[in-house]
Amino acid sequence: MPIHATSNFWILETEHSAYAFGLDADGRLVNCYWGERLLHPGDYPTPGIPGGWASFNDAGQLAREEYPAESGLKYIEPCFKASYADGARDSVLCFEKAEQQENELKIHLRDEQQALKIILGYRIHPAGDLLERWAEATNESQAVIRLERILSAQWHLPRARAYRLSHLYGRWADEWNVCREALTMGVKVLESRRITTSHHANPWFAVDGGRADEDHGEVWFGALAWSGNWKFIAETTEFGSTRLSLGLNDWDFAWQLHPGETFSTPAVISGYTPDGFGAASRRLHDFIREQVLPNGQALRKVLYNSWEATEFNVDETSQAALAELAAEMGVELFVMDDGWFHGRDHDRAGLGDWWPDDKKFPNGLKPLVERVNALGMEFGLWVEPEMVNPDSDLYRAHPDWAIHFPGRSRSEARNQLILNFARAEVQEYILEKLDKILSENNIRFIKWDMNRNASEPGWQGAPGDPRELWVRYVQGVYRVWGELRKRHPQVTWQSCSGGGGRVDLGILRLADQAWVSDNTEPTARLNIQEGYSQVYPACTMEAWVTDMGPDYLPLEFRMHVSMCGALGIGGHLVRWGAEKRVEAAKWIALYKEIRPIIQFGDLYRLRSAQENSFSALEYVSKDRKDAVLFAFRSHQPLIPYLEPQPPIYLRGLDPAALYTLEGCEAVRSGLAWMRTGIDLHLFDYQSTVRRIRQVS
Ligand code: GLA
Repeated sequence: MPIHATSNFWILETEHSAYAFGLDADGRLVNCYWGERLLHPGDYPTPGIPGGWASFNDAGQLAREEYPAESGLKYIEPCFKASYADGARDSVLCFEKAEQQENELKIHLRDEQQALKIILGYRIHPAGDLLERWAEATNESQAVIRLERILSAQWHLPRARAYRLSHLYGRWADEWNVCREALTMGVKVLESRRITTSHHANPWFAVDGGRADEDHGEVWFGALAWSGNWKFIAETTEFGSTRLSLGLNDWDFAWQLHPGETFSTPAVISGYTPDGFGAASRRLHDFIREQVLPNGQALRKVLYNSWEATEFNVDETSQAALAELAAEMGVELFVMDDGWFHGRDHDRAGLGDWWPDDKKFPNGLKPLVERVNALGMEFGLWVEPEMVNPDSDLYRAHPDWAIHFPGRSRSEARNQLILNFARAEVQEYILEKLDKILSENNIRFIKWDMNRNASEPGWQGAPGDPRELWVRYVQGVYRVWGELRKRHPQVTWQSCSGGGGRVDLGILRLADQAWVSDNTEPTARLNIQEGYSQVYPACTMEAWVTDMGPDYLPLEFRMHVSMCGALGIGGHLVRWGAEKRVEAAKWIALYKEIRPIIQFGDLYRLRSAQENSFSALEYVSKDRKDAVLFAFRSHQPLIPYLEPQPPIYLRGLDPAALYTLEGCEAVRSGLAWMRTGIDLHLFDYQSTVRRIRQVS
């Protein structure tokens, strides 16, 4: 049984990991264990005697509380803070009861006086070795309760050890850098205050003891399903304890919880593996494909996107010319990017007016869509629904719909403002406009973009606390997107925010794939893709081959880089010339053969691109019968032969089965390929893709 429970102790077991907590002698709910699954329920440590010494170090400060609220003599980072009508600003959460259902456990807590109930939700995913958590607050009183912080979860790591935190950081066009740093005394915060997930950090963590690598070592990891302001806190105390918290950001956050209402936090998913960062990523990839994505098992199509070729200069002639060439190359989906709608000749006008521009498309989109369909491809479109240009009919009609503080200056970014998606009329307007385009045209793909972050977060006429904007905006986006998905189930959706500014487990419930960066220069892309792969699976990683970067980068190299994800083409095909297009067609054909392995298989990062100029990765099908190896030699060292190219050791094969590796004569066991290594000898900007096939 995955959940072992007594009246005051709970053990949540997955196939290989376990998480245990219980009530201590003072009635606090405290964490007891998070790590490898032990042999018997009696093996897990129980809460024991509460600690505490000296008037400065109360037991409350030292306890490893599951969900600490602001109260008593504790000065650690709490999960929960609220203020009440009677002036109280602390919450003393007492255990009330536990409810258990198969793989789910709910712990009910209640404030000692206020009629506030907190439910801690736990759901185990046994096969994936993952634990999902969330919290719910219900106001059972007659007065409003003001929530000031309500995180999704706190985790405690085994005591008295030194830890290292891995996280992702970056900026526009340079997202997804992996940073590994020691957690020293004090608090480390990662967050977004931008109303969206952000390019700058991502709500994911992996913590290890300092020596884990791709294949070995204990790793505790987690990710948040939320696309707005979030906060991750790692706190290491003077008492040798390290706790991690993740959830909604409490910065500028407030929520009026009215009598009878419940506030539910976004979920977090967390896991433990003794098998290094690679295993942690594979667990997340499987979970995202199986539990998060709406159609995680659907093959991602090879698409063409017009942005880098034609930018705002789209019309039927230019797009049809590209579409014809794309179709010849084997592209399956043609996506017209920005520039197609009313008044959109540049980025200073048009956003908000979601109907075809009558100069560029005098007969609407239909003729182009039909031409694309006649070429055997599906048609897709770019939109940026949350935005408005001051130069638009929408803004002229509803200037108050843009987020701002009335009467004060407001910042434009890329000449645009953000529509307040917390407002029902804004949601309705966008819903109606997008619904119309999708109903009137045979559109199978939407790229949903978001090209700026929030500022001056005013909400005129807010029904409650205007700071609720941060959360209600995101809920509004989820609602509109979810409703459109429901009404138009034939559409595949992409999440884009100036590249990788909005990728998280929340948006991936709505978006099938993501645009991970506006930087398509392939050597940069290797780093970007590797960082992205820490959390998110290849089937969501849209990767286009474009003309960005120096001409001496071979097409083959560019294609191989993009074939590591959901392949797309974004170059100017007319300028490519026939020879290049024929070569690209060859790679597209190969990609179509191997994409099930890439999109649904297990990823092994064999040699890091962020750390080396010679890098390699491998995808292995779930049945271990097929695999694909990619290797790249990117930038040119001063004296090439000084840069060693160590052998590449394959991973993930069946040790006892026999395999062939393209380009090698030998038939060898999986064990042999994994233990003895292969020499690839790549020159500058050379790359290789090799199929590995089981022969027995
Ligand atoms: C953003 C996207 C690009 C493109 C442009 C269009 O920058 O990331 O891919 O769609 O907007 O304006």
